[in-house]
Amino acid sequence: MNDAFLKACAGEPVRPVPVWIMRQAGRYLPEYREVRGQTDFLTLCKTPELAAKVTLQPVDILGVDAAILFSDILIPLEAMGSGLVFSEGRGPVLDPPFRSEADLDRLHCIDPESEVPFVLETIRILREQLKHKVPLIGFAGAPFTLATYLIEGGTTKSFVHTRRLLFGVPALFASLMELLTDVTIAYLSSQIRAGAQAVQLFDTWAGILSREEYGAHVLPHVKRIMEELSSLGVPRIYFVLDGCHILESIKETGADVIGLDWRTEISRAVSRLGPEVVLQGNLDPGCLFMQEEALRRRVARILEQGREARAHIFNLGHGIMPEVSPEKARLLVEMVHELSA
Ligand code: CP3
Repeated sequence: MNDAFLKACAGEPVRPVPVWIMRQAGRYLPEYREVRGQTDFLTLCKTPELAAKVTLQPVDILGVDAAILFSDILIPLEAMGSGLVFSEGRGPVLDPPFRSEADLDRLHCIDPESEVPFVLETIRILREQLKHKVPLIGFAGAPFTLATYLIEGGTTKSFVHTRRLLFGVPALFASLMELLTDVTIAYLSSQIRAGAQAVQLFDTWAGILSREEYGAHVLPHVKRIMEELSSLGVPRIYFVLDGCHILESIKETGADVIGLDWRTEISRAVSRLGPEVVLQGNLDPGCLFMQEEALRRRVARILEQGREARAHIFNLGHGIMPEVSPEKARLLVEMVHELSA
């Protein structure tokens, strides 16, 4: 098996630098659209044979150094008792939204083996199919990001309901965060027991908070997740979008690998956090619209900065966009390998 990704996670500065792409299984791939054309998104997530099939697509088509389980961060919320539908155009809808104490009674901590067995079955199938290929990454949404979906009832720009609860009814917000933290620990532990060889915690929206608010309302929970998982022996990656202002707090979580978006320069992250950090990232997803030579220069610059860290895993700074050409994505992977060989 190609274990470059796992070595880099463990702090070994491997060459060529391993690369994978956030949202690497998805709509930019015609092979994904073909499978997705036969079924809706949630059914795809809940059908292990199909979920495994689309997980493998980017491994075979792009040549990435890791596979990431095909699922969604919102899956455990449905198992907790929330309504969940993915509507074309509107994105995810969680109904009814979480707004009061009574809403806490509708939700429960999940037993992954009985309530999301399809996720664990997908992992078992994948470990068999990936045996001679690449490692498998499991993942979950972090408590704050999951809380925003529950409270807003879906995607938002203003986060008004989240802010109203966090600042206006902090005790209830804290109870929800505690529950989501318990769920995340149970969920990721089961994924690891089923065979996930690394886990990534996605905290997409934590960057909307100030450093003070992040430290008070989010950091203790993420720290608890990292601590509880530490004995399971797999690397823990933590990704925050737009997290430049809370970089030191992100390090405090205890994650083994810190995922950066394109706004946080790798060199600056290393000077702030020290040369012992392991970093993942951080090409602007928009760079995949560049011409080949311009893209190559960007990739080379990121690789050069990555050498300042203890180890570096190449990735985009956020998910790949559906409008990107698969050929450009394949070229990116090839470039990373060539330029860092
Ligand atoms: O990375 C991978 O290839 C693994 C699969 C994966 C998906 N979602 C599949 C997906 C992962 C790791 C996620 C994470 C996820 N989901 C996040 C965190 C990372 C990030 O992007 O910030 C978030 C916030 C979500 C929630 C979510 N899922 C939204 C808001 C949407 C709708 C918007 C959109 O892009 O369509 C989804 C749907 C979704 N999740 C799709 C895929 C492939 C598209 C669904 C489709 O096929 O129609």
